[in-house]
Amino acid sequence: MTSTSLSVGELVTAHPRAVAVLQRRQIDFCCGGARPLAEACAARGIDPQALLEEVHAEEVRWRADAVRWDERPLPELIDHILTRYHEPLITELPRILAMAHRVQQVHGDKDPRIAELVARVIALKDDLLPHMQKEELVLFPLIRGGRGMLAGGPITVMHVEHEEVGALLRQIRALTDDFTAPDGACGTWRALWQGLADLEADLHEHIHLENNILFPKALHDGAEAA
Ligand SMILES: [Fe+2]
Ligand SMILES: [Fe+2]
Repeated sequence: MTSTSLSVGELVTAHPRAVAVLQRRQIDFCCGGARPLAEACAARGIDPQALLEEVHAEEVRWRADAVRWDERPLPELIDHILTRYHEPLITELPRILAMAHRVQQVHGDKDPRIAELVARVIALKDDLLPHMQKEELVLFPLIRGGRGMLAGGPITVMHVEHEEVGALLRQIRALTDDFTAPDGACGTWRALWQGLADLEADLHEHIHLENNILFPKALHDGAEAA
């Protein structure tokens, strides 16, 4: 079984189902992927060995579902990122924002944090849509064309933008009390909280695949081809 000396990102790369465990334990594996697992566990008061056992149990339950994306060709990984994460975000971000506006209109007077939440969701949408466009129009075509050695600059920019998305997601989690809807919350309010929780889970996986697998492999393959 895997050693506790891995980084968090390496753990998720080798064991894709670790995502579920790390999300439960609130350990950042996308932007915080380079952090040693033992250090990330210590910060949350978790025994790393027990965490690995939890990952193993999760894998036994989900064996058929786990794809080792680090072992797949990069164009296939890019296709997966586009269909599984980019395309749904195009419709999901406006849907969530519309729900956030509705909850603000009806309940904004009860909780001033709803206005702050709406502002964060707008910022997330305004960050992500151009970010994905840059990936789709500039970075992914470079990688598909085997010219990863030219991608160092764009990848640095994507890393910075991922950090900004990660910070917004942390603020959204705090503003929603870890996506716990208040007692008596209406259906739209609950649907908004659920939509935000799903959005966070998908974005963590999405950024992990880019930061910890796609980008390093593209730079490495590009350097070898040069
Ligand atoms: Fe992306
Ligand atoms: Fe990205």
